[in-house]
Amino acid sequence: MNEKTLFVAFSTQKGGMGKTAVTVLTASYLHYVKGYRVAVLDCDFPQHSIVSERRRDEKLITGNAHFKRMAFELFREGGVKAYRVKGSTPETAIEDAEALIAASDKPFDVVFFDLPGTLNSRGVVQTLATMDYIFIPVSADRLVLESTLQYATMLHENIVSVGKGRIRGLHLFWNMVDGREKSPLYEAYEGAIEELNLQVMKTSLPNSIRFRKEMSEERNSIFRSTLFPADRALLKGSNVDELANEICEILKLTPDGKE
Ligand SMILES: Nc1ncnc2c1ncn2[C@@H]1O[C@H](COP(=O)(O)OP(=O)(O)OP(=O)(O)O)[C@@H](O)[C@H]1O
Ligand SMILES: [Mg+2]
Repeated sequence: MNEKTLFVAFSTQKGGMGKTAVTVLTASYLHYVKGYRVAVLDCDFPQHSIVSERRRDEKLITGNAHFKRMAFELFREGGVKAYRVKGSTPETAIEDAEALIAASDKPFDVVFFDLPGTLNSRGVVQTLATMDYIFIPVSADRLVLESTLQYATMLHENIVSVGKGRIRGLHLFWNMVDGREKSPLYEAYEGAIEELNLQVMKTSLPNSIRFRKEMSEERNSIFRSTLFPADRALLKGSNVDELANEICEILKLTPDGKE
């Protein structure tokens, strides 16, 4: 059990980079596989896509014998609880997180915030400044990289370097990597990345169709779910486990969340 609850966001102003998908995958891995106490604040109002995903996951369990049995084993017999997914807004996110923490009998290790990408949406900058760690997904596309570095510069200049917020680390990671394409672009931008004190994570996530599929009736195998850990076979080659483990190292979470 870690003493202080860490606030973490996957964030970038570029749409469709995987913020929401990686939030769910990481939260589920940390909670169901590593045993950490996590909560997710879905601040992407009004879509609240993680809140809806949780609702769909719950519905699937009630209507499917296989998932029902799995849920029984995990939640009843395994004594595991599903992590909280709470709808919020960028303006009220910190208040809502504090309320969640205050209402919980045991402290959380990590609260994940899924924020909208638009910085001009009220409250986003303020909330970002209150994060302990921000992870920035980027794809190996020149335009995406340029706009992402602008975003990181903005965060750095307005929050990190003025010492206003509590951000301890900005970490960039490659998402949707096809084959081995990432290095030339990275090298070309390495200087700019270094100047921003931006760390590039060792782990990158491959472009793979499994990221796009939520838990569903058609398949018994699970990759992305807010209620179950990913199947080992699907985890293999997804790098989600490596990414989550690297995040644990960065956050300096004590190695085993299980008490
Ligand atoms: N590594 C990946 N490989 C393939 N598809 C991916 C990968 N990561 C994310 N995706 C898919 O890309 C799409 C966009 O991802 P997601 O919704 O998580 O992005 P986002 O940054 O939250 O977008 P928004 O700005 O709309 O909130 C989703 O369909 C998601 O499943
Ligand atoms: Mg999203």
